[in-house]
Amino acid sequence: MHRIFIATSNAGKIRDFSAAAALWEVEILPVTNFSLLPAVVEDGNTFAANARKKAENYSRYVPGGLVIADDSGLEVDALAGAPGVHSARYAANDPQAASNSADEANNLKLIRALETVAQEKRTGRFVCAIAAARDGATLGVFEGTAEGIILPEARGANGFGYDPLFYFPSLKKTFAELGAEEKVQHSHRGQAFRKFLEWYRTFDLPSYSPT
Ligand code: IMP
Repeated sequence: MHRIFIATSNAGKIRDFSAAAALWEVEILPVTNFSLLPAVVEDGNTFAANARKKAENYSRYVPGGLVIADDSGLEVDALAGAPGVHSARYAANDPQAASNSADEANNLKLIRALETVAQEKRTGRFVCAIAAARDGATLGVFEGTAEGIILPEARGANGFGYDPLFYFPSLKKTFAELGAEEKVQHSHRGQAFRKFLEWYRTFDLPSYSPT
């Protein structure tokens, strides 16, 4: 079993990653004492830039270990790509707010922002960038997207974030109506994670799995 460390305290992301890892011979562990470490300012203009910043920073606390960090969010076409890299703090109206906004507040703001937008114009996508770093240096960045429609009201009780508003046409369900394994098969995060694993498998694995 190979060990990879993940730099996040987001329970929803950890659930998604654990579901993805379970399909492979990989164990995902949280970076030790993650919540006590100084937070990274996520001021990059792209998901990839923020993911790199997080992975590089937190990998310094796990000498020799491979650390992955994801930066992700929802891009809505009718809102010119918003909330985008500001998805976590959308309701706060302040990209550098001290903490993430509650999922319910973000979803309510999105529902209101799209109130007058016709069904066929409610397209958008989840985007995920995963950066893998070791000892402060990025070794690779992997991206995934999932295309969907933003609903006018929430549906489903699973998942996190904008999942209840994100309708995935090919399954005729929102992401919040999917189980963890089903979500990871179709989601932006699952797609980015599979790309990461393809890359990871080409490496000399023993030297990338500290015990
Ligand atoms: P990050 O921690 O800066 O990457 O914040 C990502 C934010 O985007 C989350 O707090 C959610 O609001 C949203 N998001 C990202 N991925 C997902 C997902 O898979 N489902 C629902 N919301 C997501």
